[in-house]
Amino acid sequence: MKEFAFLSDGEQRYLSQIQGRTYANIFGLVERYINAKVLELSQDHWFGDQTALEALVRFSDEELKHQELFRRIEKLAAEGMPPGYRVIPQPDAVAQAVLSKSTWAVLALTLHIELFTQLHYRQSIEPDENLSPLFKDVFLFHWKEESQHAILDELEWVRSDRKISTEARDKAVNEFIELVVAVDGILQLPAEDSRYFAENCGRQLSADKRKELEAGVLLLRPAPAFHQSADEPDHRCTDRAYSVRARDADVGFEPRERGLKPATTCTTKRCCEPRSRGL
Ligand SMILES: [Fe+2]
Ligand SMILES: [Fe+2]
Repeated sequence: MKEFAFLSDGEQRYLSQIQGRTYANIFGLVERYINAKVLELSQDHWFGDQTALEALVRFSDEELKHQELFRRIEKLAAEGMPPGYRVIPQPDAVAQAVLSKSTWAVLALTLHIELFTQLHYRQSIEPDENLSPLFKDVFLFHWKEESQHAILDELEWVRSDRKISTEARDKAVNEFIELVVAVDGILQLPAEDSRYFAENCGRQLSADKRKELEAGVLLLRPAPAFHQSADEPDHRCTDRAYSVRARDADVGFEPRERGLKPATTCTTKRCCEPRSRGL
């Protein structure tokens, strides 16, 4: 987290607590649409592959659990902080907007979000020795379940990809880009964090300091890490590399036949070396 020279250690900690609260709320928010899409996709497996059906049902169950997890974090935070904190986007409204796009685009977005949880944990949460152990645990175990979801996202995305025409795929790529832009808008939430902090930090901050705070807090938003996964030149290739890595992580996931070549055969060297990029 960025240090602000004009903030005391206590103020700096308070700001990080506000941002942590928002970070948890953002996840709770996007998981609403993810679960709705997973439930919809599960209908395709009502008959036939019961293992696929079970995997999606458990995926859905975990996303419901995660939403409750983040609601509890919000409740804990609200008990210890003054009123006035706001999360402006509403989960149902966001879900309806996202779900108005094609399944291909929605799955592309979902896969990147699930991968982003892992990426951001490793980049920003795990190495920070000053973070609350509870906060770290929440996002460690959240990421471990998300990494399994990423594998299912990929399977469903490939299944969706096989069913659509070239024209429909082109349109879906544009929709995916629109969704990434929309998510970036949601991630502007931390601007609210700086407002809330300024109103509750116990002293009057000058207009310049408030501006500096707002600009600095915006730089801390998770978007850069999200973009890092979304900007890769070959999404399916990159995702395959990530997912195989997720599969190999200590999440107890046993690989099943996915109809995909292992990442080591990928020709895009850049995405086959996730560990060399510090992931
Ligand atoms: Fe989740
Ligand atoms: Fe998930």
